Amino acid sequence: MTIYNERYRPQFHFSARENWLNDPNGCVFHNGEYHLFFQHNPQGGQWGNITWGHAVSPDLIHWRQLPDAIRPYDDGMIFSGSAVVDSENRSGFGRGPQGPLVAAFTHAKKPFGQAIAFSNDDGRTWQLYDNGRHVVSNQGLDDGERDPKIFWHAPTQKWIMALWVQKGRVRFFNSEDLKHWEHTGDFAGNGFFECPDLFELPVDGDPKRRKWILNDAAFNYWIGSFNGKTFVAETGPLQGNFGNNFYAAQTWNNTGNRIIQIAWMNNGQYPGMPFNQQMSIPCELTLRATPAGIRLYRMPVTEIEGLYLDNYHVLNKILIPKQDLYVQPRHDLFDITAEVEMNRDAVYSIRLYDLDITCTINQIDCLGKTARFRSLNGFVKLRILIDRTSIDLFANEGEICMSSCFLPDRKNTRLQFRADIQPVHIRSLAIHRLSSAWR
Ligand code: FRU
Repeated sequence: MTIYNERYRPQFHFSARENWLNDPNGCVFHNGEYHLFFQHNPQGGQWGNITWGHAVSPDLIHWRQLPDAIRPYDDGMIFSGSAVVDSENRSGFGRGPQGPLVAAFTHAKKPFGQAIAFSNDDGRTWQLYDNGRHVVSNQGLDDGERDPKIFWHAPTQKWIMALWVQKGRVRFFNSEDLKHWEHTGDFAGNGFFECPDLFELPVDGDPKRRKWILNDAAFNYWIGSFNGKTFVAETGPLQGNFGNNFYAAQTWNNTGNRIIQIAWMNNGQYPGMPFNQQMSIPCELTLRATPAGIRLYRMPVTEIEGLYLDNYHVLNKILIPKQDLYVQPRHDLFDITAEVEMNRDAVYSIRLYDLDITCTINQIDCLGKTARFRSLNGFVKLRILIDRTSIDLFANEGEICMSSCFLPDRKNTRLQFRADIQPVHIRSLAIHRLSSAWR
């Protein structure tokens, strides 16, 4: 079996060519490339020897893995962190006209501290600043403090770092040069654990109404304000993903008005494969006002349309119990949008292999997980991405998301739609078969 077409290789979700991967790191757009660094064990299929692996993509879907970027030093592994484009060379690390890339990461040798590295060749090679000395030394609250998220904050003209310093606590720092950091405030969020991310979005696209979102590794998120020094929550924590496998999400820096997020689909199973673990599909985040308050919405980036092979469309069909709809030809990679009208006790399901996605007017069930959502007058809109080893579900245009991994059994590879109990009205069903992103 050739590499990237192995039996359990995700075909449009990123995985390391070989060996272990966990959190996404250093997500930054620069010079026409999306950079994705990742927690990587270059030497084995299990967690260990943690190094920043590296991949680049022109479109967030087609990835090319490059040599490892930042390697362990002084008996410390390179834990999670982030990267920025220092376009005005405030760090003084720059050699070219475009300014350097600067990465901040946790140097994982107890007590952990935060260090930085820079690159002047589009992220291909990295140099530790000051031999990897800690630019933020351990704060004394937890010897495992970690996962610095850095970004540029235009209103205060400062670099910001959000750092997880203790269970339930994120600490903020600012800096003019990325080397000297000053503690500016703390946020106490119930249960907040690892991998903070902090970003700003307009509500319903209104540039005058902007909010900040702070989330932890489990994608619990708070909505509030950030003045460059500290975060104040107005809402939260809210649950950002209801699936089995979604962790350590991070958004890209330097993507203009788009906020694009990727996560590790933690704990998927890939028996016998040369790689272990996969990333989520990159999604675009928006904030929308709902009757329950402002909520974060998440939908796959539109670039996935570049993988569409064909389009199977059904309009206005009544799906009757015991008269299932089968979709030909057989395939194992799909992007499906289903708009269905149904009444209270109707249930419909979508089946591939021995796996069912079951949907009612206000609930989806998939791979042992349940999510409830707002019923929109008996109308349900679902988006479903099926890759070889994962399913991403989006209800109500991204109000509810569920990302889960599975192992395909390959026996029943017919995609099937079924109504149980009562007929359901398919207003429209669009099914795209996808090609592999590795070809
Ligand atoms: C989250 C995490 C991070 C840490 C990294 C180590 O999955 O535990 O907090 O930096 O993984 O690989």
